[in-house]
Amino acid sequence: MKNYCILYILLCFLSCSKNEQIEKEVTNKSDEKYEKVINELLSKMTLEDKIGQTNLRGTSSRAKTLSEELKQQVREGKVGALLNVMKTEFVDELQKIAVEESPNKIPLIFARDVIHGFKTMFPIPLGMAASWDEDVARTSSRVAAIESSSVGIRWTFAPMLDIARDSRWGRIAESPGEDPYLASILGKAYVEGFQGDSLNDPTSIAACAKHYIGYGAAIGGRDYNTTIISKPLLHNVYLPPFESALNAKAATVMTAFNEINGIPATGNQYLLKDVLRDKLKFDGFVVSDWESTIEMIAHGYAKDEKHVAELAANAGLDMEMTSKAYENNLKTLIEEGKVSEDQLNEFVKNILRIKLRLGLFETPYRDATNEAKFYEKLHLEKAKEAAIKSTVMLKNKGVLPLAKTSKIALIGPMANAPLDQMGTWTFDGEKEKTITPLDAFKTANINYNYVAGLSHSRDLSKKEFKKSVAMARTSDVIVFVAGEEAILSGEAHSRASIDLPGTQENLIKALAKTGKPIVLVIMAGRPITITNIIDDVDAVLMSWHPGTMGGEALQEILFGLSEPQGRLPISWPKTAGQLPYFYNHKNTGRPANREDYVAMYDIPIGAWQSSLGNDSHYLDVGYTPHFPFGYGLGYTSFKYNKIEVSKDTIRFNEDIIINVTITNTGKRAGKEVVQLYVQDIVGSITRPVRELKGFQHITFEPGETKEVSFILSSNALKFTNHESVKAAEEGHFNVWIGPHSASGLKSTFYLKD
Ligand code: BGC
Repeated sequence: MKNYCILYILLCFLSCSKNEQIEKEVTNKSDEKYEKVINELLSKMTLEDKIGQTNLRGTSSRAKTLSEELKQQVREGKVGALLNVMKTEFVDELQKIAVEESPNKIPLIFARDVIHGFKTMFPIPLGMAASWDEDVARTSSRVAAIESSSVGIRWTFAPMLDIARDSRWGRIAESPGEDPYLASILGKAYVEGFQGDSLNDPTSIAACAKHYIGYGAAIGGRDYNTTIISKPLLHNVYLPPFESALNAKAATVMTAFNEINGIPATGNQYLLKDVLRDKLKFDGFVVSDWESTIEMIAHGYAKDEKHVAELAANAGLDMEMTSKAYENNLKTLIEEGKVSEDQLNEFVKNILRIKLRLGLFETPYRDATNEAKFYEKLHLEKAKEAAIKSTVMLKNKGVLPLAKTSKIALIGPMANAPLDQMGTWTFDGEKEKTITPLDAFKTANINYNYVAGLSHSRDLSKKEFKKSVAMARTSDVIVFVAGEEAILSGEAHSRASIDLPGTQENLIKALAKTGKPIVLVIMAGRPITITNIIDDVDAVLMSWHPGTMGGEALQEILFGLSEPQGRLPISWPKTAGQLPYFYNHKNTGRPANREDYVAMYDIPIGAWQSSLGNDSHYLDVGYTPHFPFGYGLGYTSFKYNKIEVSKDTIRFNEDIIINVTITNTGKRAGKEVVQLYVQDIVGSITRPVRELKGFQHITFEPGETKEVSFILSSNALKFTNHESVKAAEEGHFNVWIGPHSASGLKSTFYLKD
């Protein structure tokens, strides 16, 4: 380690930019020094130079050469950062022009969407959220940073921290799920992994908390759609993950495409100044999303490109991605007095601060010690571990784990879909490196036969049905790997129905007729409604899009070498018609309940209009999801015995301890994700029926009983009210400890002022 440091310092010295003044100044890496350097630089910059820093330019991901035009722009100091520069030679060439030929020799930052892996692909973020494990998030982003920084990338557009309550929304695949507490823990961990111990370590890449904010609240799950978010909802649900990422020192923030309550996020002064700068004290820089600036024209918020620049600049947007509203208009706007030069100076300071923290002035080029380490053994092991920890078992009628001797019929369009298994945002992942379930079966000496049955998830043919059924008949058990191709989730890929596409359900039903047990494995970017087929199958494993090592992870789980360890980070709907659905909803004045509920087909013919329970439910699907938030089975079972609170009453600023005893009632050792929920029964604004406030991963030997304790601080009971004041309120609270959001042992306490 010591040698590495000396080598690193030496290399820094050798590869320093020519700007000797800056070189000297930044050797002391304190922020105070940085501010001095920033001000000195700023005093030398022309208006054009400053505007140049606010420009994030993109190149085509297919470009084989570097355009002379782009090189010239860099030479003239018209570019502050670049995204999607694919070839490392191009990265080096452009950086050389920036630090040797541009007016102020300011280095560029090279950005890329490194979302859930660079080469070694981890499960999609919604999958990693199912691990409920901050180590999984931290490790995945560390591996991604190590791999991507080795080719010159120093900035990723991740983590995506959009709370998502509607599985129709394609980008739910990239989200941390529906819960602000879980998302906050994961958000912090992702940032820590990307940015490492220090941003100026050559293997660190700047994180970008996105999309600020409310993007996941798009009406009807239609991407880019309108959002209507009250201030309490914004502060209590959508903001906490960002707050957490910024507390972990996320270097940058990306504005969202959507409007919030009529004002696009990219031109939203309340969000960018009042909340982000004044309340959260963010001192990095804010970048727009791809053309989200000029989309303010389509939103009907800006008249033209010049108006866009004025609105975005006065709202506090530091850097513009790909579009040119700033480049074309900021100078005139400043000359006309519509935007102040001080405002522009702030943008440049924020951008330079991150460039300094990244160490780019000292080490503008890829560090020679940071060699490409793609698909290292450890990276692959961690990716497999993440896939195992992310897999959620939703049903098991005793069929799993499979006996090693079982003869298996491996069927389904996702059983050997190396590209699709990687999921959305896998620019750099290589399908040739992906281990599919079929690959894993081949190498693990398993007694199996394989037929795809359907060539891809949307396949409408029934050509291979007969063959599949015949093969199933001669087997002991069917493992059907179903799902969605990667292209069916992710950006702009929302779906109105979230059933299995194509004829997958028909094939499962045909196979069920053989009487052989079926293990349904789902590889998808979102929960898939399986109400039509749940009774036809004996076990269900949700693998999400599990990444490079998904096949091996699945094979280990199927045969009991590993336990499925995931818990749902999102409520799993019975039908898309229930969406949006989230466990932390309000009680309403007429809460749904079992006593009053009359299902549609039980309503007597000619029933009197008001003779049925008038509650908040659907006649056809009731009022519960198929599987609740937090749900997931393992290979053993647990009994929650007794809950106790340390006191009946706590004062503000005090803690309460909540204990529970849990017994592993099964014959296998196993892990339980013990979850703590709270309900503030009466508030100055209504409070959710339950809110997650803690969880712990506890391992049990067979038959073992353990006491599990949670310390709940009264600070965790604070919420933002209609006056935008964040405080806890005196009153009664319910508290549950249980295995998921719809169950658990209950107690109460009183919070006293
Ligand atoms: C997405 C962002 C992404 C950006 C750059 C946009 O379309 O919304 O999440 O970072 O493109 O690729």
